[in-house]
Amino acid sequence: MTKVAPSILSGDFAKMGESVSNAESWGADYIHCDVMDGVYVPNITFGMPMIKALRPYSSLTFDVHLMITEPEKYVEQFCDAGADIVTFHPEASKDVDKAIDLIKNKGKKVGLVLNPDKHIELLLPYLKKIDMIVIMGVYPGFGGQRFIPDVLGKAKVLKRVGFKGEIELDGGVTEENAAKIVADGVDVLVGGSSVFRSSDPASTIRRLKGQ
Ligand code: DX5
Ligand code: ZN
Repeated sequence: MTKVAPSILSGDFAKMGESVSNAESWGADYIHCDVMDGVYVPNITFGMPMIKALRPYSSLTFDVHLMITEPEKYVEQFCDAGADIVTFHPEASKDVDKAIDLIKNKGKKVGLVLNPDKHIELLLPYLKKIDMIVIMGVYPGFGGQRFIPDVLGKAKVLKRVGFKGEIELDGGVTEENAAKIVADGVDVLVGGSSVFRSSDPASTIRRLKGQ
C-alpha cells in the first residue's frame, strides 16, 4: 500500500508540534522533515533542535531529508535527535560510504536522494547498502513547486536493477499526478503543499494513497 509522508515545510512554523500531530491524525505514514542549510540549497529551514522538539508529538516514522553539505558531519546528531530514516544527497557528501555507515551504526534507516538531473548510475554502488531512494520531482530548496514529469520512469528502472528498498517521490506530488507516480513503482509519496494547504487534508491523504 502506498504511504504518504507530509512535509512539515508546508506546516505552520509557529505551531509545528500541532502540524506533526495533525498529520498523524489525518492518516500520514511518515513525517517528512526538510533540513536545508543555505549552502547546498538556497534556503534555510531548521536543524536537529527542531527534530528533537517535535519527536514527542508523534510516534510515526520521522523521515529526515538532509539538503546540507557534508552530511557526514551531522547525521549522527540527527539520529540522536529522533530521526528514523535519514536521507541525503550523495553529491553533497565528501564520503558517501562513511555517511551511510554512521547512520546504520545508529540503528537507523538510510537513503540517498536523486535530483531531477541526476542519473540512476550515481546510486548503483550503494543499492545494497541503503534502505530508501528518494527521487526528487522538483529541484530541492522550496515547497510548492511544479512536478517535473521527466523523472517518471526512474522508479521502474530502480526496481528493474534490483533495488529492494522503499522508493519515495519528493516534490510536486498532487492528487492529480499521484496515481501516475505510484504506477511507476513509487512506495512513498511526500506531500507538502498538497496536504497542508488542503481544505480536507485527511481526504487528500486518502486520495494520494488511491483510496
Ligand atoms: C523540496 C523538499 C520537498 C518539498 C515538498 O526541497 O525536499 O520535501 O517540501 O513540498 P511540495 O509537496 O509542496 O512540493
Ligand atoms: Zn524533502
